[in-house]
Amino acid sequence: EGNKLWGGRFSGSTDPIMEMLNASISYDQRLAEVDIQGSMAYAKALEKSGILSKMELEKILGGLDKISEEWSKGVFGVIQTDEDIHTANERRLKELIGDVAGKLHTGRSRNDQVVTDLKLFMKNSLSIISTHLLRLIETLVERAAIEIDVILPGYTHLQKAQPIRWSQFLLSHAVALTRDSERLGEVKRRINLDFASISLNSMDAVSERDFVVEFLSAATLLMIHLSKMAEDLIIYSTSEFGFLTLSDAYSTGSSLMPQKKNPDSLELIRSKAGRVCGFWGCPGLAAILMVLKGLPSTYNKDLQEDKEAVFDVIDTLNAVLQVATGVISTLQINKESMERALSPEMLATDLAHYLVRKGMPFRQAHVASGKAVQLAETKGITVNHLSLEEMQNISPLFGSDVAQVFSVLSSVEQYTAAGGTAKSSVSAQIEQLRELLKRL
Ligand code: ARG
Repeated sequence: EGNKLWGGRFSGSTDPIMEMLNASISYDQRLAEVDIQGSMAYAKALEKSGILSKMELEKILGGLDKISEEWSKGVFGVIQTDEDIHTANERRLKELIGDVAGKLHTGRSRNDQVVTDLKLFMKNSLSIISTHLLRLIETLVERAAIEIDVILPGYTHLQKAQPIRWSQFLLSHAVALTRDSERLGEVKRRINLDFASISLNSMDAVSERDFVVEFLSAATLLMIHLSKMAEDLIIYSTSEFGFLTLSDAYSTGSSLMPQKKNPDSLELIRSKAGRVCGFWGCPGLAAILMVLKGLPSTYNKDLQEDKEAVFDVIDTLNAVLQVATGVISTLQINKESMERALSPEMLATDLAHYLVRKGMPFRQAHVASGKAVQLAETKGITVNHLSLEEMQNISPLFGSDVAQVFSVLSSVEQYTAAGGTAKSSVSAQIEQLRELLKRL
């Protein structure tokens, strides 16, 4: 038991199965670099407080430097008895500089180390994730600026609702993602990632994993947003809709049916949302909440389970965000199919608004417009083909100018209120998002 950091009071040896269950080195070696950074800072603090001499500090820092080099070159040799990354680094430090290595652990516990390491690791990862997320938002916004004149059906309940600009659709996703970006920024700030101040309470410092839960929650919401976007695009890419075609770079084929081009990239984004939330066997938000539920104060070994979820979610976000940006920037839209899908019935709301402008209360106008749609339906024609006489039988307020209602362009251009789908409103959204992107 000589190699254990805690072997002194033990005479019996650990059951090998228990050893396997207990070990975290297989995954926490991802913390190797930050573990060394933390130890370096700690050694300097020990020297400041007189526990290490200048010479001892130099020796320890030199050894830690060497270990860092070994990790980065991929030559650090993990051995059987390295329970976790902290044990491994300390074992190696002793091999390199001898017994003075044993002074480094004065006044600290691996429990302090592991939480410091995890926060340092998340600091780097969150910056990378934020950069990928900003690039995705930017891609949506710039695409919206370029394709602002494209009009397609808007849907509720997946039923045709009213005509909208394609850009209004793209921006709806961009706006949601800006909130995710803000949430991730909040998480970063509260983790105190610059270590601007020390923890107020030692028991809290060593046991709290609320920062892990906050990160996983923000990540889950982000993934849910991406899943919604992916689902929209999957539907729009079917031949039944035909609104868009994914680039080959983000599609795959069928091993059986030669004609198939499948939107696997989007399906994976959609399924990874489940993974981040923590579906079966996957370490995610739900898994960590289960680990934390019912734990007493301070460190308990259960907390060892937090890292796999954090690593897995970080890797997933990094991949998914880059793929989403790739999909959005390379997909081709089919304006003709979008136009063809714009049926005159989608202007029934505008027909009601026409009557409102002539003085009819909206509730009555809604009924009158609905009657026109129904009449057209029974006659097997579209509502714009009803004669003026038939329209006037429904309401005498209909005049010959009603024909103007049946233009999709004038329809979208009515919605000039903030957040609306008129060109001026969409342009204002683009400007605001561009401004916001500078601050995110
Ligand atoms: N490997 C442990 C973890 O990941 C480090 C802390 C171990 N502490 C302890 N008291 N056994 O949480």
